[in-house]
Amino acid sequence: MSDDDDIDAALESRLTEQEYFRPSPDFVGQANCTDSDIYDRYEENYPEAFAEYAELLDWDERWDQVLDDSNPPFYGWFTGGKLNASANCIDRHLDERKNQTALLWEGEDGTQRNITYQDLYREVNQMAAALKDAGVEEDDVVTLHLPMVPALPITMLACARIGAPHSEVFAGFSAQALADRVDDADSDVVVTVDGYYRRGDFLNHKQKADEALDLADKDVDKLLVWERHDGELHEDVGLQDGRDLLVSELMADNERATVEPVSRDAEDPLFLMYTSGTTGKPKGCQHRTGGYLSYATATSKYVLDIEPEDTYWCAADIGWITGHSYIVYGPLALGTTSVMYEGAPDHPHKGRIWEIAEKYDVDVFHTSPTAVRMFMKWGEQYPQDYDFDFRHMTTVGEPIQPEAWLWYYKYIGDEDAVIVDTWWQTETGGHLITNLPALKDMKPGSAGYPCPGIEPAILDDNGEPLEEAAGRAGNLVIEKPWPGMLQTVYGDDERFIDEYWRDFSDTDSDDMADWVYKAGDGAVHERDGYFRILGRLDDVMNVAGHRLGTMELESAVSEVEDVAEAAVVSREHDEKGEVPDVYVILREGVEPSEEVRQRIVTAVEEEIGKFARPNAIAFVDDLPKTRSGKIMRRLLENISNDEDLGDTTTLRDPSVPERIRDQVQDD
Ligand code: WTA
Repeated sequence: MSDDDDIDAALESRLTEQEYFRPSPDFVGQANCTDSDIYDRYEENYPEAFAEYAELLDWDERWDQVLDDSNPPFYGWFTGGKLNASANCIDRHLDERKNQTALLWEGEDGTQRNITYQDLYREVNQMAAALKDAGVEEDDVVTLHLPMVPALPITMLACARIGAPHSEVFAGFSAQALADRVDDADSDVVVTVDGYYRRGDFLNHKQKADEALDLADKDVDKLLVWERHDGELHEDVGLQDGRDLLVSELMADNERATVEPVSRDAEDPLFLMYTSGTTGKPKGCQHRTGGYLSYATATSKYVLDIEPEDTYWCAADIGWITGHSYIVYGPLALGTTSVMYEGAPDHPHKGRIWEIAEKYDVDVFHTSPTAVRMFMKWGEQYPQDYDFDFRHMTTVGEPIQPEAWLWYYKYIGDEDAVIVDTWWQTETGGHLITNLPALKDMKPGSAGYPCPGIEPAILDDNGEPLEEAAGRAGNLVIEKPWPGMLQTVYGDDERFIDEYWRDFSDTDSDDMADWVYKAGDGAVHERDGYFRILGRLDDVMNVAGHRLGTMELESAVSEVEDVAEAAVVSREHDEKGEVPDVYVILREGVEPSEEVRQRIVTAVEEEIGKFARPNAIAFVDDLPKTRSGKIMRRLLENISNDEDLGDTTTLRDPSVPERIRDQVQDD
């Protein structure tokens, strides 16, 4: 989508008036936030009101200033303050809840681990000591390539403890993707695990790190290897002398070690999270310690409504931002019990999720629209076979269609649980638009109200604001900074400005009011004040809740020798939301064949990962281009989605799209 017409077309198909659903009196009676003045208070008392968020944490030194806006868009939050994230997630709970489970881990093979806050304290201290033994010092970025095993949160918290920012790369990413991120972060130490279970197979995961370290430009000093089965290395995994160290051995050397949490400046980075943007190279979103942790904690409390006594389950992967903020940092800072599941939702059967929910008596549940659509397809008999009772449910990551919302509400929530539809991004650190569940009624398909202190607006493509609550679609922007926002793109301040600010800001100004954050999403501010998110307006797609850049995919496809030119667009998909369609012009003399198709698929799997696999590959003679040679992806998107082509007169050859359509239909 690129202009107003496209936005309106997308909107019409999604805009049918929905009814409201009221939270139950029982829910409201127990909710963490029932203060209906909160919105006004945060607006009138901006930014000072955010001090309440920071007060949810323990600080070694209190901050001097809530917001330092002297150098926009490089804002400072809670400046002068000092704290440690691992101490906030672990040590401060030990007096009251050391025997309470912090992480409740379910392996795909049925193994279970209850890691109490005391256990977590021990293991994080040992791991922190192990990292130091491996040469990690404060401010070194440690790259992690870990799946959903306890090693992942333990390593993150151990890094936080010694003030070494972590950069976790989702386990599904390929060796090449890992290598790129190791290089960009300039990590001397990488952490992996020998293997993990996926659909019954015990995968050799360390192999990817081995390949990545060969591919990386950087000479990595140490590769730390966790073992999925205590003291038992995956039979196919070897260790390279001098480089590879077993975490179990390092931890055994440090059995009684305690490592003092380093007092970090509020503005010191806590972690990097790489994400796809509009260019080929993924960018490292850099998150600060004080503002991020305050924001993740406060939104966990007020939006997710977590109490320390709850068993809370976010069924996302910690390898993405959702898991960082809402499996690890927010829930643990609140001292709750956070569930982690290693495997696939349908292994060994399609009731697995509900079986776990019943087994652990989960109170608060969190998942994605893609998962809801999948559960819906499998059918309501699966949840109905199990006895679980959620008080609160979340969706995140994509727009949820009203039908899927209603199914979730009825069959999973028993028409009693509240649902929050949370809009946010890797960059935002935490929720920006979603209802505070006791204060606003739910409306299927609508993320709802902005969070307290958050000021979204809708601009037209020229940067002019659309009238508030006028029901028109445009570019979603955020007009004022918030504590959870990224600090910068790691090592590239210029890119930070280009990607998020330049379009709608006066970049010469040092007045915060002239700086506007571009989300990259289209949205409608509805007449009732709710925001409905339409999806990305830039070349980023959302495949089953995973963010993928069109350019990244195109550059992977172009790696294949047979390919002369390629364009990737998104096709709407019933279950996954969007999937990538690839249009390819082959080199002279190369004939379309199954082998070429397979080489393209393999290239994508190797450059990015299996989760990015193309949906369809079309071999075409030409691509729709403007006179200046720019590929008009919008037209290809229309073809993929069986939509009208609209105006093609600006093309160098206006007949190209029709020819492609005929060709694709013949395939
Ligand atoms: C999309 C995930 C509609 C949006 C936390 C955004 C959503 C991108 C919603 C960020 C929602 C996220 N409704 N769309 N509730 N939440 N999105 O960085 O397009 O992986 O820009 O962060 O997901 O994806 P990311």
